[in-house]
Amino acid sequence: MDHFNYKDGELYAEDLPIAKIAAEVGTPFYCYSTATLERHYKVFSEAFDGVNALVCYAVKANSNLAVIKTLARLGAGADVVSEGELRRALQAGIPASKIVFSGVGKRPWEMELALEVGIHQFNVESEPEVKVLSNVASRMGKIAKIAFRVNPDVDAKTHAKISTGKAENKFGVPWQDVSRIYGDAAKLPGIEIQGVDVHIGSQLMDLDPFNNAFLRVRELVMLLRSEGHNITQVDLGGGLGIPYDGTMPPTPTSYGAVAINAMGNLGVQLIFEPGRLIVGNAGVLVSEVIYVKQGAERKFVILDAAMNDLIRPAMYDGYHHIDTIKEPSADAVFEPMDVVGPVCETGDTFAKARDLPLLEASDLVAFRSAGAYGAVMASTYNTRPLVPEVLVNGDQYAVIRKRPSLEEILDLDTVPTWLDNE
Ligand code: LLP
Repeated sequence: MDHFNYKDGELYAEDLPIAKIAAEVGTPFYCYSTATLERHYKVFSEAFDGVNALVCYAVKANSNLAVIKTLARLGAGADVVSEGELRRALQAGIPASKIVFSGVGKRPWEMELALEVGIHQFNVESEPEVKVLSNVASRMGKIAKIAFRVNPDVDAKTHAKISTGKAENKFGVPWQDVSRIYGDAAKLPGIEIQGVDVHIGSQLMDLDPFNNAFLRVRELVMLLRSEGHNITQVDLGGGLGIPYDGTMPPTPTSYGAVAINAMGNLGVQLIFEPGRLIVGNAGVLVSEVIYVKQGAERKFVILDAAMNDLIRPAMYDGYHHIDTIKEPSADAVFEPMDVVGPVCETGDTFAKARDLPLLEASDLVAFRSAGAYGAVMASTYNTRPLVPEVLVNGDQYAVIRKRPSLEEILDLDTVPTWLDNE
C-alpha cells in the first residue's frame, strides 16, 4: 500500500496534488511519500516482532539524507557499500552500532572510517579483503568484527543483472572453501569473527530461493560453531521484491516466517538489508509530455524524463506503471503507445505499446515504484541535470535535493591551458 492516490480527479502524494508540486519545482522530479516510507519500514520490522533482529536499510536503494533520516527516526540501521554511504548514514543519525558495511571492493580508507566510528559488522567478501582489513585494524589498534558473505550457489530466479547468489557471480566466498577461509581468518590479528552473511539477489518474487539459501546458512552456522567459531550474527541480506506490474511478491510476514523458521533457535541476532521493499513504492518520477508524435506503427509519447533519470527500463527491462496525473474519466479511450525520453538512443524507451489514455503536450505523468534505484542511478548523460527530489509529509513538501544548474554542471569541467588561448 502506498499514499499516491487519485482525489478529486487528480493524483495526490499524501495530501498534496502532484500537479501543484510540479508547478513549483518543475519537471521531471522524484516525489517521495513519508507515510509510505514509514509504513513499509514498519511492516517489514513487524515481521520480526519478538525476534532479536536488526533491520539495516540498504542505503544504495535511495541514499537521500532526508529519506535515511525518516527511517533512522524509526530505529533503522543501515547497510552501506562505500565511504559515501557510510557518511550519509551517520549524518542522517543512524548510530554506527547499527551499520553493516557490504561490498566486494572496500578500500583501506573506507575501512578506516568504519573502524574509527565502530560499525556493527564488516561483511567481508574475499580473502584478500580480510587481509587488508586485518592490516588496517591492527595498525589502528582496533578489532574489526566480521562476517563472511558466503555464496550459497542458489538460483534467485530474478533478472540476471541483479542475481548474486550463484557460484558464477562475483559475490561472497565460494561455498566449498568457507570452512578453510573462516579457519584462516580466525588467526588474523585485528579480526573478530562474529557472523555469516548471505544476499542472493534483488527483486525476488518467490520464497523458495530464500528458503534454500537460509537453510544452507543454518547448516553452515552449525558447522562453523563445531569448528570453534563464535557465531552470534546472521545477516540474511535484502532482496524481497515489490509489485511493479501488479504481480504480488510474498508478504514481509511470510518472508519473516521463512527466515525465523530457518534461524529461529540458533540464538543469533538476525540482520536484514531491505532496500527496494522500503523505498520502491514510496516514490514516483513525475514527468511532462513534450510532444506526442505519430510513428509508423504507434504514437510516441515523448517525455521530459529520460533513461538518465530512470535507467531501470533500459538496464533491466524494468516495468514501471505509468499514471496520468489527471485521472482518466470513466469513458476515457486508451490506446497503446510507446513512452520515450528525449535522449538520443533507442534504449531510451520507458514502455512499448503501453495502454494509456490519450495524452497531449504539457500533460503530466507519474512513473510508479520509482523510489528505489531511481534517483541514485541517475546520470547527467546528454548534459541533462540530475532530477530534483521532493519529500512529501501530509500536506507539506520539501525539496530534498535541488536540481543543479547547468552552470554548476559545466563548472566541473576544466579546459587545459593549451586549449585556452584560441
Ligand atoms: N544487500 C546487498 C548486499 C545488496 O547488494 C543489495 C542490493 C541489497 C542488500 C538490497 O537489495 P533489495 O532489498 O533492494 O533488493 N539496481 C537494481 C537493483 C540492484 C540491487 C543491488 N544490491 C534495480 O534497479 O533493480
